[in-house]
Amino acid sequence: MRLLVTGGAGFIASHFVHQVRAEHEVVVLDKLDYCASVKNIPHDVRLVKGDIRDADAVRALFARFKPEAVVHFAAQTHVDNSFGNSLEFTSNNVEGTHVLLEVARTYGALKKFVHVSTDEVYGESSYELNSSNTEGGTILQPTNPYAATKAAAEMLVMAYGRSYGLPYVITRGNNVYGPAQYPEKVIPKFITLAMQGKKLPIHGDGLGTRSYLHVSDAVSAFATILDRGVLGEVYNIGTAQERTTLSVAEDICAQFNLDPETAIEFVQDRPFNDRRYYIDSGKLHHIGWVPEKTWEHGLAETIAWYKNHNTDEYWSPAPTFLVYGKNGWIGGLLGQLLEKGGYTYHFAEERLEHCEKDMDTFHPTHILNAAGITGRPNVDWCETHKTEVIQTNVAATLHMIDTAHRRGVHVTNFATGCIYTYDEAHPRGGPGFTEDDPPNFRGSYYSRTKCMVEELIKEYDNVWQLRLRMPISADLENPRNFVYKIARYDRVVDIPNSMTVLDELLPLAIEGAVRGLTGVYNFTNPGVVSHREVLDMYKPGHPWTYFTEEEQNKILAAPRSNNFLDTTKLERAFPGLMNIKDSLKKYVFSR
Ligand SMILES: NC(=O)c1ccc[n+]([C@@H]2O[C@H](COP(=O)([O-])OP(=O)(O)OC[C@H]3O[C@@H](n4cnc5c(N)ncnc54)[C@H](O)[C@@H]3O)[C@@H](O)[C@H]2O)c1
Repeated sequence: MRLLVTGGAGFIASHFVHQVRAEHEVVVLDKLDYCASVKNIPHDVRLVKGDIRDADAVRALFARFKPEAVVHFAAQTHVDNSFGNSLEFTSNNVEGTHVLLEVARTYGALKKFVHVSTDEVYGESSYELNSSNTEGGTILQPTNPYAATKAAAEMLVMAYGRSYGLPYVITRGNNVYGPAQYPEKVIPKFITLAMQGKKLPIHGDGLGTRSYLHVSDAVSAFATILDRGVLGEVYNIGTAQERTTLSVAEDICAQFNLDPETAIEFVQDRPFNDRRYYIDSGKLHHIGWVPEKTWEHGLAETIAWYKNHNTDEYWSPAPTFLVYGKNGWIGGLLGQLLEKGGYTYHFAEERLEHCEKDMDTFHPTHILNAAGITGRPNVDWCETHKTEVIQTNVAATLHMIDTAHRRGVHVTNFATGCIYTYDEAHPRGGPGFTEDDPPNFRGSYYSRTKCMVEELIKEYDNVWQLRLRMPISADLENPRNFVYKIARYDRVVDIPNSMTVLDELLPLAIEGAVRGLTGVYNFTNPGVVSHREVLDMYKPGHPWTYFTEEEQNKILAAPRSNNFLDTTKLERAFPGLMNIKDSLKKYVFSR
C-alpha cells in the first residue's frame, strides 16, 4: 500500500516507518521540527519536508504520491511546552489536522486515515474509582492544553467521518518510550541527565503514575490497526502496568549505580499534572495485538541507545543549505525552492575557490553546487577557454568538495549526463547508460572536464552527483532552457534523448540532499523524447527545419552527445517519476 506518514521524522512515527517500509511504499511528510531528526529515517525512504498546515504543499504531495492510506502522527507533543505556548499546539495539532483532513476529503481516494491521538484526551483517571477508560464509554475531559488540542483534532476526524465518509480509525496511546526519543520527555531526560552525573528532577511528589509502552509494541499496535482496525472505531493502545515517576527515576538510577537519595531532586510541579491515565486496551487485543517487551529489557535497550549516540549531534539543527550558482539558472531555481520549502539557506558569497569563508560564516549542513562553466551561448565557448573551464569545473569544484568532506558537510553536485553517446551496446531504442557504464563521449572539452571530475568525486562519500541533461523548465523565455535554445536555431537535429524536467526533478534534489543520498545518479526523467517531439509540443504545426547529425557537426566547434540514460536507480529512490513526455506535458507545456 502507498502510505503517507506525517511526522515521520519524529520518535514513534520513524520507528513505525522502519517497521512497515518493507511491506508498504512509504513517504514521510515532516516539517523537521526541533524534535525530529533526518537520521531517524532510512536513506531509501522518501522524506518530504513540509508542514501539514500548508494546504498547497499537502495537496501537491497527495497529487504526486497518491497515497492509499495516511497515518497521521505529526503534532506538537510535549505537554510542558503546551503550558507556555498553547496556541502553537492549536495551530499544529488542530489546524494542521484540519488541513490534512480537508485535503484528504477533496482527494477522495484514501482507504484509511489513522489518526494518532493520546490517552491524555480522557483526562485524569481516579485511583478511588479505579475504572479504566474505554473507547466508547468515557467522556473526553482533557486537562492540559496539549491534550485539549489532541481531543479537538479527534473531533474533527470524527466529523469528517460522519459528514464526508472519511475512512478513519483513531488511536489513543499511553506514554511511549524507547531509543531515539527526543530527550525532553521524561525517560530519555532522566537517562541523559544520569549519564552526565546530573540530578534527576521530579515534579511534585513523583507519585503520579503513568503506563509506559515500549516503542516496538506501540509500532506493532499501529501496524495492527492499519491492517485490521475497523473503520470508524477508536482503539486504546496501552499496558496495564503502571509506574510512578519516582520508581522510573529509581530504576534508571539503578542502571547507573546511582544512589536515588542523592541523585533525585524534587522540584515544583508543573501547572497541572494528572495523577493517572488508566486505559483499557481490550479492544485492540481482540484484533490481535500482543505487546511483548518487558520494562526491564526495554529500559536497558533504551539506555544502551543513549550511551551509543551523541544526542547533540543526533538532533542537530534542521538542514542549513549553502547554494553555489546564485546567478545561474539552476542555482536561482534552487533558491526559490528552498525559500518556498521554509528551509534555512544562503547563497554563497565567495567563489568555490574560497569556500572556507562561506562555510565558516554559514555553517551549512548541506551544499548544493550548481556553479560551473557551461559556456555561453553554448558549450563551444569551452573549446577556446580551457584553463577557465579547468579552474572552475575541476580544481575549484574538487576543492569545495574536499573541504566539505573534511567538515562533514553533504554536497549535492549538479553534473552532466553529456558524457555518453549512443554506441553499439547502447543504440537508439536500446538499453540506456547506467551509472556504472564508463563514459564514452569525450567530444567536447566541457564533457571531458566533467568526466574527469566525476571520476574523482566518486571517491567522496559525502557527495550526491546528479547527472542532468538538456534541462527544461516551464520558464520558456529563459535562454538556458533547452526549448528556448532549439526553438531559436535555424535548423535542428531530431534525435531521441534523455532530458531533465527541472520543475519535477529539482524539488527531488533538495529532498534527496536532506535524506543524505550519496553516489552518482542519472538525474533525468525516464524515457526519451526527440527534438521534434519537444518542438511539436511547444508550437504544434510550426514548420521547424531539421538537418542530420553529420550536417550539424559541420557547424559546431564541439560535437554534441546524444543518449538515453537509464533511470532505474533514480526511480528506486523516487518512485512515481513521470516519463519525460508526460512530465513535459504536465510541467512545461500545460501552463
Ligand atoms: N510519545 C508519546 O508518549 C505519545 C503517546 C501517545 C500519543 N502520542 C502521539 O503520537 C504522535 C507522535 O508522537 P512522538 O512522541 O513521536 O512525537 P515527536 O515530537 O517525536 O514527533 C512529532 C513529529 O511531528 C513533526 N511535526 C510537528 N508539527 C508538524 C507540522 N505542523 N507539520 C509537519 N510535521 C510536524 C515534528 O517535526 C516531529 O517529527 C503524536 O501525535 C503524539 O500526540 C505520543
